[in-house]
Amino acid sequence: LDNGLARTPPMGWLAWERFRCNVDCVDDPYNCISERLFMQMADRLSEDGWKELGYNYINIDDCWMSMDRDEQGNLYANKTRFPNGIKKLADYVHSKGLKLGIYLDFGTHTCGGYPGSIKYLQKDAETIAGWGIDMLKMDGCYANVSDMSWGYPDMEMYMNKTGRPILFSCSWPAYAGGIKVDYSVLGKHCNAWRNYDDIQDSWDSVTHIIDWFGDNQDVLAPAAGPGHWNDPDMVNYTAIGDHCNMWRNYGDIQDSWDSVTNIIDWYGNNQDILVPAAAPGQWNDPDMVGGGGGDGRDCMDLLTKMFSFISLIVGDYSLSYEESKAQMAMWAILAAPLFMSNDLRSISPEARTILMNKEVIRISQDSLGMQGRRVIKGTNKVETWVRQVQTKETYAVAFLNRREDGMPYNHTTTLGSLNFTSTMGYEVVDVYTNHRYGHFGLDTKLTGDNKIETWVRPIERQDTYAVAFLNRRSDGI
Ligand code: GLA
Ligand code: GLA
Repeated sequence: LDNGLARTPPMGWLAWERFRCNVDCVDDPYNCISERLFMQMADRLSEDGWKELGYNYINIDDCWMSMDRDEQGNLYANKTRFPNGIKKLADYVHSKGLKLGIYLDFGTHTCGGYPGSIKYLQKDAETIAGWGIDMLKMDGCYANVSDMSWGYPDMEMYMNKTGRPILFSCSWPAYAGGIKVDYSVLGKHCNAWRNYDDIQDSWDSVTHIIDWFGDNQDVLAPAAGPGHWNDPDMVNYTAIGDHCNMWRNYGDIQDSWDSVTNIIDWYGNNQDILVPAAAPGQWNDPDMVGGGGGDGRDCMDLLTKMFSFISLIVGDYSLSYEESKAQMAMWAILAAPLFMSNDLRSISPEARTILMNKEVIRISQDSLGMQGRRVIKGTNKVETWVRQVQTKETYAVAFLNRREDGMPYNHTTTLGSLNFTSTMGYEVVDVYTNHRYGHFGLDTKLTGDNKIETWVRPIERQDTYAVAFLNRRSDGI
């Protein structure tokens, strides 16, 4: 959409993946969808260095509205949770040098059951423009897909008529079957569009989305460019990768959370035998700390891991450290909008470092705006993705390790075999470590591994009981 916005993929924060439709401000005032939550996140974006890196949109998702329109048919925010209304919230967000996004649904209702816009497109466009809204995510629940081909363009026209520039994110293709839409029409009326499934807080969900983008890149990559972007959905991690412990009764531990929970299940099911067996000098051993890495990675014991779950209340905890780096790298290669959905009030330093990596952001925000492609889907389960940046001979390359054997793996290749052509060769830099590998000719061997870094968390000693709240929910919130 040629409205001057989103010349590079937009960046910011979006409530949905982390905070969902939590409207319980009585029992959970700290996390419910309320003006307080958005003000606090705006404070964090503006005071903690995010804004300077480009994360400047703060986006409300579903469940902000009152259940009904007012007598004139106008939308308004839930008065208990947003006592000062959206306009005041927008003023606050603007005073922090940030922009405010909001959520509507094209159909009769939002996905969460709040009022839909289908009969009120012009009115709602005027309402949000009047409030000073800067971005609209328009969802597509409770609507006929066939109506979307007039509905989304109409909404764009009505917003244009208000005179206020509003970044328009359309969920249209996500409801219309992903690639069964005319992407040139989308690019004309939308600044970004959700193509596919909602992201959830799991590595499975991330890889599922990456696969879909790789499989459909011939349709998707040409559709992306300044002003109009494919949106694989939020970046949502916070965790550090560490699964661990040390007494051996059962199957080998592997480097995965599944394997860890399998072992924990087995210990729980057999505790009547196992617990009495443990005593000084004789301990049950559920196997190595540090998973299958065996590369000197230090790790916390099971108890410490359990303790870290307490902080589930305040953060996302599904992606490991390495998986988090991989998601961030892939979203940059895909020229994806970078909307975080996490708790900026308690985000870990590791996650912050990944999300604030200047080089990765530079790749994401490259002005050429070319979406990268999967150039090799290796038989060794290492995929190579390449995005052209800046000038003709500069490229961002991601080696995405999809192996599940839980150990470091050396992947060796040459630039020539990746179809790089400059006979002058290339300078190679690792954007996560800043390591400069120096000059590589087309035939120089390039080797990378997936060695996992070491994270040690201090253990607090307390003269009380160790209590573990083991969260086995898989709803990703
Ligand atoms: C749909 C969308 C999500 C979110 C919810 C809100 O599921 O795909 O991103 O906006 O609706 O109810
Ligand atoms: C078995 C053991 C492992 C390891 C391998 C070595 O699988 O369970 O812990 O010692 O043998 O081959």
